Amino acid sequence: MNLLLMGPPGAGKGTQGKRLGAKYSIPLVSTGDILRANVSDGTDLGKKAKSFMNAGELVPDALVLEMISDRLAQEDCAKGFILDGFPRNTAQAESLAGVLEGLSKSIDLALGIDVPDAELVKRLCGRRICTNKACGSGYHLDFDPPKAEGICDDCGSELYQRADDCEETIGARLKVYGEQTAPLIEYYTERKLFKAIDGTGPLDGITAIIVDAVDGR
Ligand code: AP5
Ligand code: MG
Ligand code: ZN
Repeated sequence: MNLLLMGPPGAGKGTQGKRLGAKYSIPLVSTGDILRANVSDGTDLGKKAKSFMNAGELVPDALVLEMISDRLAQEDCAKGFILDGFPRNTAQAESLAGVLEGLSKSIDLALGIDVPDAELVKRLCGRRICTNKACGSGYHLDFDPPKAEGICDDCGSELYQRADDCEETIGARLKVYGEQTAPLIEYYTERKLFKAIDGTGPLDGITAIIVDAVDGR
């Protein structure tokens, strides 16, 4: 089963994607996470991507496409995958279709998590993430705080705030989403693959709505 998780910054793609990956035993493939790992490891890709990410802009398509086609060809994606944060514009969607065709795969369902902008800003400003890459658990200072301040419940490592989770960059990210990514709702609706998900309310309720949509597709 091959799923796309779409939605604006802070919609809950990573949070829900992690839960769905565990439920269906398929990997969560987040282009944002792979890019951040490259930035922190100081790879060539990371050096090229960093300034775009910190400005809230999209990293150039060619860089992201090479990265994602390598990732989807790996063995653990054979039984399925959940893509988080890719595609992000129509050119990437067309490229993805081509890559999947080459691997004899296709998308089964594109889920669009919907959350009002004011709520997105609150979610992003308060987000904290585990520094341990193997863990990567996400928290929110108000909505989902860790038991001990600044420490991950799951592994005891320190938490950090993403460089792009500051108010001015959040504005740029929301603008880029509206201009470049939101048109994909129409793209996948035309292909009868799109399902909108109300992303407000408690995490468990949203997970249940997504699971119903996936199982009932
Ligand atoms: P990326 O990492 O994908 O960031 P994003 O799309 O801005 O989305 P986020 O990760 O910020 O939000 P999320 O939806 O995962 O929310 P989360 O679950 O964490 O991309 C970053 C950058 O990389 C881009 O700006 C771009 O530069 C580059 N990039 C990535 N992919 C690219 C591509 N394909 N092409 C080009 N460039 C690319 O939740 C957020 C917070 O809310 C958390 O604190 C969480 O605890 C809380 N929360 C979640 N659900 C709820 C709820 N129901 N109620 C209350 N709080 C909640
Ligand atoms: Mg994310
Ligand atoms: Zn952790």
